[in-house]
Amino acid sequence: MLTPLAYETLEKRFGFRQFLDEQEEIIASVLSGRDTLVVMPTGGGKSLCYQFPALMLEGLTLVISPLIALMKDQVDALARRGIDACLVNSTLTPAEQRDRINAIIRGEYKIVYIAPERFRHRSFVDALKSVRLSLVAVDEAHCVSQWGHDFRPDYLGIGRAMEEIGRPPIVALTATATPDVRSDIVKQLALREPAEFIAGFERPNLSLSIVDTDTVAEKLKAIEKLASERKTGIIYAATRKNVEKISAHLHNEGIAHTAYHAGLPDEQRRAAQEKFISREVPIAVATNAFGMGIDRGDLRFVAHFDIPGSIEAYYQEVGRAGRDGEPSECVLLFNYADTRTQEFFIEGANPSPELIRDIYIWLRAQPGHDVQLSLADMAEKIPNLKNDMALGSALALLDRRGYIERYDIPGQRVKGTKLLKPETTAGALDLDDQALKVKAARDFAKLDKMVAIAYSRVCRQQFILDYFGERDTEPCGQCDVCASGRVQVIREGTSTETETTRKALSAVARMCTRQEDGSWAGRFGAGRIIQVLMGSHSKEVLDARLDELSTYGLLKSFSKNYLHNLFDTFKTAGLIESSGGQYPVVNLTPDGESVMRGKTTPRLCWPSLHEAPSRSKLPEASTGKTPATKKTVSPAGSTYQETLRLFKTGSTLAQIAKIRDMNLTTIEDHMARLLATKAPGLSIDSLVPLERQGIILAKAPSEVTTLRSVKELLPDYSYMEIKCTLAAHGRYRPV
Ligand SMILES: Nc1ncnc2c1ncn2[C@@H]1O[C@H](COP(=O)(O)OP(=O)(O)OP(=O)(O)O)[C@@H](O)[C@H]1O
Ligand SMILES: [Mg+2]
Ligand SMILES: [Zn+2]
Repeated sequence: MLTPLAYETLEKRFGFRQFLDEQEEIIASVLSGRDTLVVMPTGGGKSLCYQFPALMLEGLTLVISPLIALMKDQVDALARRGIDACLVNSTLTPAEQRDRINAIIRGEYKIVYIAPERFRHRSFVDALKSVRLSLVAVDEAHCVSQWGHDFRPDYLGIGRAMEEIGRPPIVALTATATPDVRSDIVKQLALREPAEFIAGFERPNLSLSIVDTDTVAEKLKAIEKLASERKTGIIYAATRKNVEKISAHLHNEGIAHTAYHAGLPDEQRRAAQEKFISREVPIAVATNAFGMGIDRGDLRFVAHFDIPGSIEAYYQEVGRAGRDGEPSECVLLFNYADTRTQEFFIEGANPSPELIRDIYIWLRAQPGHDVQLSLADMAEKIPNLKNDMALGSALALLDRRGYIERYDIPGQRVKGTKLLKPETTAGALDLDDQALKVKAARDFAKLDKMVAIAYSRVCRQQFILDYFGERDTEPCGQCDVCASGRVQVIREGTSTETETTRKALSAVARMCTRQEDGSWAGRFGAGRIIQVLMGSHSKEVLDARLDELSTYGLLKSFSKNYLHNLFDTFKTAGLIESSGGQYPVVNLTPDGESVMRGKTTPRLCWPSLHEAPSRSKLPEASTGKTPATKKTVSPAGSTYQETLRLFKTGSTLAQIAKIRDMNLTTIEDHMARLLATKAPGLSIDSLVPLERQGIILAKAPSEVTTLRSVKELLPDYSYMEIKCTLAAHGRYRPV
């Protein structure tokens, strides 16, 4: 398809014999001058899709990339191949920047790397106007999307800058794009009828597994094992504290590694990255800022110490393993309680409009409407600020909207913050409150999806491919679910299943309130909706006159268990959403609405009609919670029922306590109460071995006054054993 000269260039300049998969087609599209969108997995070879055209085209190719830290490596690599490339960014002194720009104007470079902030510099934009610009490559293009996991506000300025410099052809590249993000890229960069290339996301050489882990010690053991068996890899942790914890452990075990997190000084971070890229050390322990664009093919494992915030982030991170195509292992050490950390991040990234206004009010009250303080110092002074991250996010948003300016102070690390329109009152700020709420809800929904994969029994690879819009894939055969032989399959429904789904969703809609913007606000929990579908005569249903709804009794031929399982499936698939809080309510999502109206056919992991009477392990979703509240996974019915449900899915009492963020004693009390009231499907034998029950029953007085008196008689028995045994045998009535 390309000219012989092209193949020669490929070999001579890049040292590659042939193009990989779709590279050739993509390059042909780019060379034709058409806007092009490239979605290719991590390590798929996106760079060549703009570096190669850059050499073939006359004039300059501008590459926009978010990570200044990695630019130098890329430029150096090009230089080694004899390609004239340079970077212009804040690591250069102003004098150096001027020199570079002059050289660019003189046409001395073929490829120039910049970060999107560069467009804020007038002199740079003007310089671009005077050169022949043949191509602009927007790398990591998902950063332009608020729905992406790596949103960079400066990416939003690219579209406008392009118009200003005469709208050269654009190639946008990303490794991660759900259909949402994809359409956002096209919109925000104003791509003109782009050719879209979506290359296969399947990574057959990765074996993915998600392992339940109870304790930090258990996680450290697993990491140690991976590190010693697999030798080279990355261990991702959600927080700096965890990075340090893991690093200390590896250090004690004598395992060579480098550690990386945002709390380290720039210099140290660069050094850590450098050491890892140059293969001086085999293992990196890092927060997720590490590794974007890292090109090291020989990583045999990627471990996640904490659950990532989205499937996008997860897949991008595991995607750094096995780029050389050799078998590699990816293990996520899952503990439901860790989702709290991600929720905290989401809360930090999504300050509420009220909080943003509070911060603005504080700024406006400062002398001269100007503050020169670090974020940490500012955070201390602002009332009601519970999540420090939220301050940074709020300031970024005010900056983006033109209400404030964050400016550099010569010779200092802290930035100044100045109001640009001090006459504007907090009440008059245009923040687009609705969009902020939608964004927060989306972020929570992404986290829910990540939790859903952890609990699902669908092949991990298939689940992920389905999430990215790749249909009709087969189970991978090597993830932990496939290996367990208990795999469920995502498929289109039978006509009955599809019909049932539409009916169930229309009941959800009936029991929601339609909002002005067309979205659905929930009013009832799943349990109540299912009661209505089953035509229940319960008092709650009749009192609320729900029996008058047209959906009443619509699915009365199905069992309650089936419908509960079906609703769990809907939730996993994002057709419905469940609010958090004490009494979670269910609402219909846009995807759910589209299925309800028959516009799309659902592809789900359908529950079996004959499935054992247990609901999936998925705890209630966490969307829509008020920020900074304590995690309370809300029970479907009473709090006891929720404990029972978790216990039946195989969680230990300690795990339940952790999941529900309650005291272990409280959970033990729940169990005692459930046993005393003979909760169906629960037996004391699953908690206390028979012979121990015997001893307890034998030694305890017939009239139990206090548990403590019994415990004194049975020092080797735990309170739980005593309490639950006596309750189960009707000898003790828990309150
Ligand atoms: N045609 C080719 N033949 C052989 N190797 C190639 C070819 N094209 C690219 N590669 C190699 O593939 C690896 C990954 O390429 P690249 O860094 O461009 O990936 P990427 O898609 O940009 O990944 P990321 O999403 O991490 O940025 C590199 O080592 C590169 O040298
Ligand atoms: Mg890349
Ligand atoms: Zn699988």
